[in-house]
Amino acid sequence: MNFIEGGNMQASVVLGIESSCDETAASVVKGDREILSNVVLSQLDQHRPFGGVVPEIAAREHARHLDGIVCDAVKQAELEFDDLDAVSATAGPGLIGGVLVGATMAKTIAIAAGIPFIAVNHLEAHALTARLTDGVLFPYLLLLISGGHCQLLAVEGVGRYRRYGTTIDDAVGEALDKSAKLLGLGFPGGPALEALARGGDPKRIELPCPMFGRPGCDFSFSGLKTAVREKVMRKTDLSPIDNADLAASFQNVVARSLVDRSANAIEIFESEFGKGHSFVMAGGVAANQILREHLRELADNRAMTFVVPPPNLCTDNAAMVAWAGVERLALGLTNNFDFVPRPRWPLDPLASALRSTRGKA
Ligand code: KG4
Ligand code: ZN
Repeated sequence: MNFIEGGNMQASVVLGIESSCDETAASVVKGDREILSNVVLSQLDQHRPFGGVVPEIAAREHARHLDGIVCDAVKQAELEFDDLDAVSATAGPGLIGGVLVGATMAKTIAIAAGIPFIAVNHLEAHALTARLTDGVLFPYLLLLISGGHCQLLAVEGVGRYRRYGTTIDDAVGEALDKSAKLLGLGFPGGPALEALARGGDPKRIELPCPMFGRPGCDFSFSGLKTAVREKVMRKTDLSPIDNADLAASFQNVVARSLVDRSANAIEIFESEFGKGHSFVMAGGVAANQILREHLRELADNRAMTFVVPPPNLCTDNAAMVAWAGVERLALGLTNNFDFVPRPRWPLDPLASALRSTRGKA
């Protein structure tokens, strides 16, 4: 089945739960691509004093708030638990304490309501969001950029992913967050860096463009982060405009690197699947407006349809988890209650295991 043909799928209603990092989220989504509710509680205030996500605190916050968030999501959808057809939860990859809280809650609801439980790969949830928002058809080319991941993949179907490239060191969101910290910006760095860059000159400060012009689709961002550190250390009296220029220049080379690697991926993808397909961006970093513009331009130049979900569905949310549940339910891909959550869970298990320093998959 290529897309939502079955009448059953259109009518199905799935509760999704997300708790793999620092958002406690629940959402109810209908199979006709309708988001009935989408509740997200951010834990930023709890983690900010530590300059990053503290796994122990994250797990405790999920345990404290998830039941209330789930009840809110069902209530806002104007439904009862008995109206649900299935419950899905992120079951990896991610911080295992939080993942255990979410997956266990989903299993409990499924047992109590007598409905199927669906274990969702967080990366698959990001990958399929464009089908929820825009009804994108398989196959499509995906640039998945988040705090823990940076990958180019051919998405051939639900559960069918082939990785063309990944990062050989840091994920792009990780590099953004660490560079933002060097610039004295708060946590999380990505949105703060984007805001600072708005007032800066993207061409003023020279930075190396990682992997630019190299064959293949792999990424590397740790050298760029080091270059930012050197600029900051060398000049202790950076003025606000220097900082803005550095942020804008950093964002600009990240964009150029993503475009360069994606251009190679388009070549490979079109040699395998032909022309006329979509180029999709997903993951938290895809919320960045400048990066969206650069990648849209690439897709336009290659006559590909460019699709990127709205920013609130790029960053972590449970609507994407509920939607992955809708897709899996339609294919009969439900899970037993003894499913064990997986801190590591690559989308393409056959791809070589290149290291991500945050090690989420
Ligand atoms: O997908 P996500 O919410 O969580 C993971 O699965 O990792 O992605 C979080 C990442 C963080 O690195 C955050 O700084 C980045 O997405 N991010 C952004 C923006 N909003 C979130 N990066 C750049 N610009 C943004 N507007
Ligand atoms: Zn994510």
